[in-house]
Amino acid sequence: MTVRALFLLSASLIPAQAVAARECAQSPAKTIEVCVAVEGGRATYAVTRAGKPVLAESQLGLTFAGELPARYTSLSDPRRSASDTSWEQPWGEQRVIRDHHSELTVTLGGDTPLNRRVLVTFRIFDDGVGFRYAYPDVPAGQAVGIVGDRTEFRTIGANQAWWYQGLGQERDEYLYSQTDARRITIAETPLTMKRDDGLYLSIHEAALVDFPSMLLAGDGAGTLTARLMPWQDGTLAKKTGAFVTPWRTVLIGDTPGALADSRIELNLNEPNKLGDVSWFKPGKYVGVWWEMHLNHTSWSSGYRHGATTANVERYMDFAARHGFGGVLVEGWNQGWDGDWTTQGDKFSFTKTYPDFDIRAITDYGRRRGVELIGHNETGGAVPNYEAQLEDAMRFYQRYGVHAVKTGYVHHSGDILDQQGGLQWFAGQYMVRHNLHVAQVAAAHRIAIDAHEPVKDTGLRRTYPNMISREGARGQEYNAWGNPTNPPEHLTILPFTRMLSGPMDFTPGIFDIPRGGIELTRRVQSTLATQLAEYVVLYSPVQMAADLPENYEAHPDAFQFIKDVPTDWETTRTLQSEIGDYVVVARQPRHGRDWFLGAITDENARTLAQPLTFLAPGKRYEAQIYADGPGADYRTNPMAYVISRRTVTSTDVLPIALAPGGGLAVRFRALD
Ligand code: NOJ
Ligand code: CA
Repeated sequence: MTVRALFLLSASLIPAQAVAARECAQSPAKTIEVCVAVEGGRATYAVTRAGKPVLAESQLGLTFAGELPARYTSLSDPRRSASDTSWEQPWGEQRVIRDHHSELTVTLGGDTPLNRRVLVTFRIFDDGVGFRYAYPDVPAGQAVGIVGDRTEFRTIGANQAWWYQGLGQERDEYLYSQTDARRITIAETPLTMKRDDGLYLSIHEAALVDFPSMLLAGDGAGTLTARLMPWQDGTLAKKTGAFVTPWRTVLIGDTPGALADSRIELNLNEPNKLGDVSWFKPGKYVGVWWEMHLNHTSWSSGYRHGATTANVERYMDFAARHGFGGVLVEGWNQGWDGDWTTQGDKFSFTKTYPDFDIRAITDYGRRRGVELIGHNETGGAVPNYEAQLEDAMRFYQRYGVHAVKTGYVHHSGDILDQQGGLQWFAGQYMVRHNLHVAQVAAAHRIAIDAHEPVKDTGLRRTYPNMISREGARGQEYNAWGNPTNPPEHLTILPFTRMLSGPMDFTPGIFDIPRGGIELTRRVQSTLATQLAEYVVLYSPVQMAADLPENYEAHPDAFQFIKDVPTDWETTRTLQSEIGDYVVVARQPRHGRDWFLGAITDENARTLAQPLTFLAPGKRYEAQIYADGPGADYRTNPMAYVISRRTVTSTDVLPIALAPGGGLAVRFRALD
């Protein structure tokens, strides 16, 4: 064969377009690599870590109403950049956050009018990846409907997943199952998985603004595809003019703690748009709350009404006595009588019940250094809330309230909008609503703690008055859930729900036996676990959820709740296995002390924790709140022991956890 013939043969085997249609970029330490490619009409990306595949070639792209799914035929104009900056949170689990990433933007060329030019931007960190689409060419004012999201996450190998089925009527308030990831039907995110080679990954999204939230649908073979919560007409997202999507994120690490300590979620959000939010102070609160969940008093009016002036003042006295800054009051406003979960349009957000004198209460609190924390339960009647929103916030501002808990107790998928359409709890309509509430609240210097919320996607960076959320099965289920949360729930949350952001779990129930009620109808933990929750489950606002008399019956253990801060300089997830145990240490913001929390599942466990996080050469008094002899969440949940010893960074702390047990430690700096 001649040289020329050989050349012609090889050239004919390589179609011209395949040659250039692939671009790769690596994370700053070259740990993670992303390659994006166009081939055979499909645009794909693939992720490797340390040379090992993490996601196989997975499809990209959106489909629009009136168009077929696009064939992508070109990949062009690769643009690369690198960035290494740090920024400071006004409050948080970590004061200073480093944002160190490489960026690759490519242009996909598709064969439909709206997919003719799509920009896909990847931000590649050493602990994961985020990517998003931009459609810059949609003409201003042109309305478009997104009817398909082709984004795939093709996982590799056998994966264990911690998940619950999405689109359920109770939104995100479900227990997690641990199964082979191929069993996933449709899962909420963050969706966390462990591979059989020990690699951990979690798929979620960041900066969910004016877009439906993403679920993941499984195909039974390891491929997960984005499934956006739709409008009732089947449209997924309605946009006007040029737009960008939220970032889709994949955290990747060798340990569950590497996922928990990743800051990708925050780094992919825009900087603070609210400016000075020092009017919001992180802190702890008590409230007229658990007594209602225990059915001692009622939200509704009448002789069992909980939100009476006298009762609230009793909580304010308790708060002042023990140094709590806030008192939450629910059931104070008109509309709670009857089935408020289906008749939320009866709620007034400015008319009090006659036995609740808000002026007297807030004056009483002011004299004692205690603020009222507001509550707006909507029963999912969003139009009713939106119509009153401005008045509701103005009302609370007038009384010096700086934080309002909101609520949307109503079946998901059944939320009525202004046009009479039915909405999912986290479709685009509710995503808009949640942000709108936060923006109106911010204008009145009010922070929002949303229950039954749209899932967190790190928006607290941009709107730091979005302080906390529920969005999981919280402590309330331990009052009336059937069953209540099993011990392993607390060892799964830090690596699933908590990856999205702070949770208002409402820790700290001290009366665990509750008169001998059966195990699956009460808190399923030891008392020490209830203390450890304050360190393990981050929130800038933490409730001491139990009744005042239950704390005053155990002043020694209560001391830990009084001492533990809610705003941190730094956080380290030290040891963990998802569903088994977790050990977290946090240092108070601008402080020298450290706090540690450890929680196990239903199994007793002994761990050794090197104290290398303490400052070298300094002495600390370790105040240790441990499970007592014979402690067991089933039979002896109240056994605890408190001890003190002097330690340094070279010591190893033995951690002995009872079944359902925990450990809480304050390391008080001595030098
Ligand atoms: C559900 C919330 O999670 C809970 O904290 C609140 O007490 C009730 N709704 C009533 O609004
Ligand atoms: Ca709830």
